[in-house]
Amino acid sequence: MADILITGGCGYIGSHTAVEFINSGMDIVIVDNFSNSDRSVLGRLQQITGKRIRFYECDAADPQAMEKVFSENRISAVIHFAGFKAVGESVKKPLAYYRNNIDSTLTLLELMKKHNCYNFIFSSSATVYGESKDMKPFTENDEAGKCSNPYGRTKYMIEEILRDAANADDNLSVVLLRYFNPIGAHESGLIGENPVGIPNNLMPFITQVAVGKLPKLRVFGNDYPTPDGSCIRDYIHVADLAAGHMSALLYAENHTGCEVFNLGTGKGTSVLEMVETFRRVNDVELPYEIADRREGDVPYCVADPTKANKVLLWECKKTLDDMCRDSWRWQKNCIA
Ligand code: WQD
Repeated sequence: MADILITGGCGYIGSHTAVEFINSGMDIVIVDNFSNSDRSVLGRLQQITGKRIRFYECDAADPQAMEKVFSENRISAVIHFAGFKAVGESVKKPLAYYRNNIDSTLTLLELMKKHNCYNFIFSSSATVYGESKDMKPFTENDEAGKCSNPYGRTKYMIEEILRDAANADDNLSVVLLRYFNPIGAHESGLIGENPVGIPNNLMPFITQVAVGKLPKLRVFGNDYPTPDGSCIRDYIHVADLAAGHMSALLYAENHTGCEVFNLGTGKGTSVLEMVETFRRVNDVELPYEIADRREGDVPYCVADPTKANKVLLWECKKTLDDMCRDSWRWQKNCIA
């Protein structure tokens, strides 16, 4: 049976996608260099699925190492998660972001051509959309590319590289998945988001405050043009996001060309609404204070997921309560 290569498969979204694919009966190969993930995830993936996982510790941008992966397996599709993804860090280290995120993609495309592999699913991001002018959900036809940071620009540039590659090769099938705000964790509590150091993102910061690892949440601004003044985002459960990759792979295997899809719920949640939901669902204290706005934040970023719903036949199943409950279970396991 053909193998699915998952780069960055020990990371947050990669590991949940690996579980989804294995539980669907697929044979996967994981590549990870642990630059932003933990080696222990491999054992936990095997614990969740009951399957041994073929794994290579290497950099997805390393041509020699990746040649070994392709020549030792029958790779029929690549799900490409491996990449640096911290917005703030990308401003400080733009060259490292361009080198790492773009080189890994070019290395994979060259090896795919050499080894007759024609399906490529790319982990893109809603950050390519920039600021919503009219506070309406983004569709895939909305303008992209006016990114506010080098991280977002790498995502957009890679989308353009993949479009050009698909235009030049009639056999190539590319699906670009623009994620909105992934949160939550696998129901087992064995895998989840485990940021190194102080979290940048909202949910891991909330769970670390709730568990007492951090003293207080700072809400970055309550003077935005939104109903309660705090920023609105489209939070999507990582399990729904993983299922979206399965739908995207099935689509890629039956089409050629390059297609882009938003993966979000279509529902907006403010920071203050998230705080209240988390407190209610988990019955925990969550001290917070209103702080200054964070540079680069936009007031509103919500998906219109209609295209993915209709074309990929994919729908989100998990609720915000599920996301808060599963994030909390994972955090409590983390410190256990
Ligand atoms: C969400 C909201 C903050 C932390 C980023 C990347 C995006 C994607 C998802 C990779 C914002 C507020 C946050 C805190 C807060 N990553 N917040 N206090 O910025 O929407 O998106 O992560 O693809 O590319 O840009 O996510 O979780 O950082 O912030 O008030 O301590 O929570 O201001 O309104 P964001 P986030």
